[in-house]
Amino acid sequence: MKRFLSGIKPSGELNIGGYAGALRQYVAMQQESDAENFYFVPDLHAVTVPQDPKELHQRSKEIAAYYIAAGVDPKKSAIFLQSQVSAHAELGWLMETQAYFGELSRMTQFKDKSEGKDAVSSALFTYPALMAADILLYQATHVPVGEDQKQHVELTRDLANRFNNKFGDVFTVPEPIIQEVGCRIMSLDDPGKKMSKSNPNKSSYVLMLDEPDTIRKKLARAVTDSDMQVRYDWEAKPAVSNLLEIYSVFSGEEIPVIEKRYEGQGYGAFKKELAEAVIAKLTPIQERFREIVDSEELVSILKDGAERAAAIADETLRKAKQAMGFVVF
Ligand code: AMP
Ligand code: TRP
Repeated sequence: MKRFLSGIKPSGELNIGGYAGALRQYVAMQQESDAENFYFVPDLHAVTVPQDPKELHQRSKEIAAYYIAAGVDPKKSAIFLQSQVSAHAELGWLMETQAYFGELSRMTQFKDKSEGKDAVSSALFTYPALMAADILLYQATHVPVGEDQKQHVELTRDLANRFNNKFGDVFTVPEPIIQEVGCRIMSLDDPGKKMSKSNPNKSSYVLMLDEPDTIRKKLARAVTDSDMQVRYDWEAKPAVSNLLEIYSVFSGEEIPVIEKRYEGQGYGAFKKELAEAVIAKLTPIQERFREIVDSEELVSILKDGAERAAAIADETLRKAKQAMGFVVF
């Protein structure tokens, strides 16, 4: 039996990179008949950097609403908030005892997020141990993520193996699932940087809730390369290759099919139709999002999800504590 587990931090508005690299995979994974799915909102991870309480509250519900709006089905998947299943924080602590300072110091996300800042929380540093706990609590076999999370999933594998070797077989060692196309959507103004909300240039990303006209404008403005050919070649044409990946993710077409359609046509029609493909996919997601985000339905899905999750998480935590020698009655 496969177990899929993943989550998106409620720390900013979601952009189409998170959809392409992560959320779209959650929906696809549910098609596997012999699988259980856990999609949670890592709110405890969000507070590793300062959060406004009101915003954290709203964004946590929003991320859950995006899951459902994009097609994560609460009947097939447990959808829940991390902070409502207390085993995460507790196993997170136990995993910190197994993680080495040196390996945590090598995490590129920590280096990027802490660079140049003087008030860096200790939780930002130990964050990958909590992420390992998130995954190991459910004995997840597969973790669908974008490319930037690969290093954290590899650390999780190391920690699981280390724990199992020392204390006996408690944890399943998980595999990351990273799509070939869409695992690293780059900024629209600079294909050398990951698409991210932290970019001060608002035209560098498309948000899940952007209006059609905003999407058209942002994509029309996206940087391209100089030779006017719609060709997939990350070495020579990174900006156009990035747009081709977005096109493929949102239209469901293979990249060679798209290249062929725009052969010899320059970028005009390509960019226009790319915007329409993005809008066509996002419009129904936005509609469903608005229906559900502040609804009772969402509250009841999250309560039910947390109950289902806690039943499994508590059992794994109990096994881990017992294996380590804690007195467990
Ligand atoms: P975050 O919003 O940082 O919690 O990221 C949520 C998920 O989306 C993770 O699995 C990331 O790897 C993925 N992700 C975030 N930004 C991008 C991007 N620009 N391209 C592809 N995947 C992304
Ligand atoms: N660290 C992930 C991110 O920044 C979010 C996350 C936390 C996560 N726990 C997880 C992803 C467990 C997958 C599995 O995007």
